[in-house]
Amino acid sequence: MDNRLKRTPGVYLLGFMGSGKTTVAQLLAERLGWDFVDLDAEIEAAENTTIAHIFEARGEAEFRRLETEMLQKIMRRIERVTPLVVALGGGTFAQDSNRAMLKGHGVSVWLDCSFEIVQQRITEAETRPLARDPEKFRRLYEDRRAAYELADFRIDGNCEVEQAIHQILELPCWK
Ligand code: S3P
Repeated sequence: MDNRLKRTPGVYLLGFMGSGKTTVAQLLAERLGWDFVDLDAEIEAAENTTIAHIFEARGEAEFRRLETEMLQKIMRRIERVTPLVVALGGGTFAQDSNRAMLKGHGVSVWLDCSFEIVQQRITEAETRPLARDPEKFRRLYEDRRAAYELADFRIDGNCEVEQAIHQILELPCWK
């Protein structure tokens, strides 16, 4: 398989919390011989604190601002022709402005996971601020789907990592 994309060399993995974005992105990057970047981890490194702390101390709006800023930086890296597999945060693609920025830039892939699987993967010692209230978490899962549908591609995320990679490598975006 040729590991070149028909577009700017970025693969953006999106989907709800617990859908496996980071795990799949890491392994996919390894397979392609590309670099991997996790948007949340980049924010934490740049701010020298945790996402949970940013939410608590500075609020969600400020987190979203940092998220967009970091996404822009990552996109610039890709434009300098550094092929990257990017694990987005669960809310990144749900923001209209982020989606507009990403349009036609690399390839966006939605890891579509059932709510049951997402719930299983989100542990009790949960550090994600938006997963703390079960009712809101469920509502967010439903509300986000319409935005995720706008990704270039959707794959079934209810499977082992290997199968997810296989689905991505079979997409018609590769040369
Ligand atoms: C969020 C998801 C988290 C993180 C933050 C907000 C969301 O990322 O960006 O807690 O809005 O869904 P993961 O999807 O990687 O957990």
